[in-house]
Amino acid sequence: MSGSTLRVLESQDAVARTAAQWVHDRAWVAANARGRFTLALSGGTTPRALYREMTAGPRLPWDRTVFCFGDERNVGPDDPESNARMAREALTGQPFVNPSSVHRIRGELPAAEAAAEYEQTLRTLFPGTASFPAFDLVLLGLGPDGHTASLFPHSPALNEHARWVAGNWVEKFRTHRITLTYPVLNAASEVLFLVTGEDKGWALRQVLQGNAPVGDIPARGIAPASGRLTFLVDRAAAAGLGSGSG
Ligand code: 6PG
Repeated sequence: MSGSTLRVLESQDAVARTAAQWVHDRAWVAANARGRFTLALSGGTTPRALYREMTAGPRLPWDRTVFCFGDERNVGPDDPESNARMAREALTGQPFVNPSSVHRIRGELPAAEAAAEYEQTLRTLFPGTASFPAFDLVLLGLGPDGHTASLFPHSPALNEHARWVAGNWVEKFRTHRITLTYPVLNAASEVLFLVTGEDKGWALRQVLQGNAPVGDIPARGIAPASGRLTFLVDRAAAAGLGSGSG
């Protein structure tokens, strides 16, 4: 994938540690330059180790960090499936994080309602935005099927190019999700993918070295207009990549 940077690290732990340093560095640059650091958290399981590293490592500008979410399941905040719950347990529930700086998607609402409400939340966080909000950093994961955030193959939200947030029907799970849309993800100053594990090998190869349509591999639709795109992956996920992949 042209315009992206790939870093292959030895292990999942190495990815988490490197990503934590990455977030730390971007956070201080943004906080010092613009007074705040806007961060969109990823869900799933991969980022849990990163979030723990962030709390244990060098201090971030916690009082100037705005925590948002790239997507959420259509569940309440205490549901085991909730991304907000995972992040709360690993990061945003820490005593040094001001709860008013954490903006979760209210997955307990009907998906379309949750999406519309979250878009309004983002509009208050990014006042005066003429087009789409530019997060300082968006964290993303990669599903084995090539999905990212809750942009799943052939799902309706792939075609949403006006709204900032969309409810999305995910046929394979027979459930709704709520997700930031491509225009918002691609307006970010920086997007950082965290991809670990052998089960991600096929999808990673499709994203970085394939040419499948975005509808088949939605993560291929992540191409920040002017922002940086980096993949932090472990050797297990990178095993299937062609030569010259680190
Ligand atoms: C979610 C995520 C999703 C995730 C991938 C990878 O809500 O699940 O936003 O896009 O990043 O499915 O998930 P794992 O990290 O659990 O492999």
